[in-house]
Amino acid sequence: MRTLDLHGVRATVFPTKEELFAAGAERLVAVVKKARAEGRDCTTALSGGSTPKALYTLVADRVSREPELQKLDWPRVHFFFGDERCVPSDHADSNFGMAKRTLLAHGLVPEQNLHRVRTELPPAEAAADYEQQLRSRFGNREPRFDLILLGMGPDGHTASLFPDTSALQERERLVVANHVAKLHADRITFTYKVLNAGREVLFLVAGEDKREAVKSILADRVPLPAGKVRPRGALDWYLDEAAAAFLPR
Ligand code: 6PG
Repeated sequence: MRTLDLHGVRATVFPTKEELFAAGAERLVAVVKKARAEGRDCTTALSGGSTPKALYTLVADRVSREPELQKLDWPRVHFFFGDERCVPSDHADSNFGMAKRTLLAHGLVPEQNLHRVRTELPPAEAAADYEQQLRSRFGNREPRFDLILLGMGPDGHTASLFPDTSALQERERLVVANHVAKLHADRITFTYKVLNAGREVLFLVAGEDKREAVKSILADRVPLPAGKVRPRGALDWYLDEAAAAFLPR
């Protein structure tokens, strides 16, 4: 494993994606422990897509095997989603459904702590409703998530902030509906206002298909959407060797 500073961004490269997932799982557990040690609820935002699925499964496996994790005060842990597809929660593409089947399968987190995007509403209403859920959770204070997990697509998108989409320009709203023409779909997504307020933001990026975008963002400073996540809090990129092969060894 090696850690580099790339124009002020800390990137940690793991030999395999399994080691990346293990480190990501450790970060998630550590954030829960830290918030609870400080007597606070822990509020995290989960990423969707395929990359984090193995991490979520790993955390659930650890919770099922490690009594110390079972004793964590899970009723004080809240999970939101950095973005969601406009599909029913039981749809194969639902990020909520994926997290429920993996990370939250142990059932230790009360249903009301799993903050679902109400995708049964029209996109704009679903976004407004989710923004209200955030504001309610944070008591109308600025929403500062303890941890925001993010992935990145080969085009440099993160959450559902895709290149050349209107959500990239949003400066006031916390959550918006974003039409993604190339997917012929609407998405619900956090805006940069939320992502950049995170106490800790962790990108999990694995695979050769991400290499060009990672290089563009971290080495060449091309302003792709994922590169514009520069939170006041801690920012980390966890990469596997396949995604980071261009970096010096
Ligand atoms: C989503 C995610 C999205 C994802 C990237 C990478 O809902 O799809 O939030 O931003 O992180 O598309 O997806 P993979 O991990 O599947 O490559």
